Amino acid sequence: MQRRKILRLCTKSYTFKHKPIFIPMPACLKSYICLALLACLLIAEGCKKNSPSTTQPVVATLKATAPFPMGSAITSNGILSNYFYQGVLLTEYNSMTADYEMKFDITEPKRGAFNYAPGDAIVGFAAQHHLRMHGHNFIWHQALPDWVLNFQGDTPAWETLFKTHIQSEATHYKGQVASWDVVNEAIRDDNGQLRNQDVSPGDGTGSIWRQHLGPDYIARAFQYAHEADPGALLFYNDYGQEWGGVKLDSMIALVTGLKNRGIPISGIGMQMHIDINVDTAGITSALKRLAATGLLVHISELDISVNPGNDPNIVFTSALQLKQSALYQFIAESYRKNVPAAQRYGITTWEFCDADSWIPPFFNRKDWPLPFDATYKKKPAYFGLLKGLTN
Ligand code: XIL
Repeated sequence: MQRRKILRLCTKSYTFKHKPIFIPMPACLKSYICLALLACLLIAEGCKKNSPSTTQPVVATLKATAPFPMGSAITSNGILSNYFYQGVLLTEYNSMTADYEMKFDITEPKRGAFNYAPGDAIVGFAAQHHLRMHGHNFIWHQALPDWVLNFQGDTPAWETLFKTHIQSEATHYKGQVASWDVVNEAIRDDNGQLRNQDVSPGDGTGSIWRQHLGPDYIARAFQYAHEADPGALLFYNDYGQEWGGVKLDSMIALVTGLKNRGIPISGIGMQMHIDINVDTAGITSALKRLAATGLLVHISELDISVNPGNDPNIVFTSALQLKQSALYQFIAESYRKNVPAAQRYGITTWEFCDADSWIPPFFNRKDWPLPFDATYKKKPAYFGLLKGLTN
């Protein structure tokens, strides 16, 4: 019966003057099609027999498990050219941050000549797939083009350069970017002061913005951004909160001061580029103190280095993998426990796959800091993070 049906299908039928005519196909084509159809039937039957029930087990994902957005830093190259990259991003995450495409050196490589193409690719992808888009960043002492580093001008000329950059980018992305890191890393590690005026390239403590615009440039950056896009949430973003001490004290004083003055700041970003030897008590205490500011708290660039000592012979043993996994779990748990639900802007990892981490090229060492391995497979770190979102 079934065989007859299949043979009928293998003969093409047309109508001529409302009468059906049958045009025989070449015999070899017929048998190929028949064989293919038979194979499909057999496979379908096999599938029916092998599946215990009609419902498939649901595999947990980060975004479906977390009671807040789960994000990752993303490169335009990754989403445009890597199928695996896209797959993991769309399966696991519902928020994204531009890895480098929205920084000053990319967006304004020459004065007034704005280049939004790389950022547009990321923002367009986020819109198409309904992911929240977090902008990173307007003002940083790094990733500056030479024309800014060499700019000769008086204070008003610097102010114009600064305001124009912030407002052009904020206006370009108005309505498409939910939130911004307005100022990134303005505070020194050693004494908690603002990065100072004595800028020598690469000295790590200077900021060209502080040098030319005075200490209140941070407040004005927030005001300028808010004028251009009043709907965007605005963050101060930095690293090292988990160290406690003067850096954390200064950060809290800075954001609280801005808030009390009515400067439009919505939240604070904790980068959390940490390593497996981190003091976990420092993480808990920073989360508690940041939550007490009443601002949104975003773990904004999480990764956990396993080779902070730059050991060239390091092997990523299962002991290291488990230690890293436990830390990912701890961070998710601590965030849920210590930050009230209304203040959780989410957890963002800085990329998600070890092959795309900034750490090995930047520090010139082997490392495996992220939840997915270099072939986009879930690591123990992934399962730790997932567990921390559930427990
Ligand atoms: C990193 C990028 O991932 C790299 O591609 C780039 O070479 C250097 O910057 N803190 C930040 C991020 O705020 O912008 C940095 O991103 C990582 C540290």
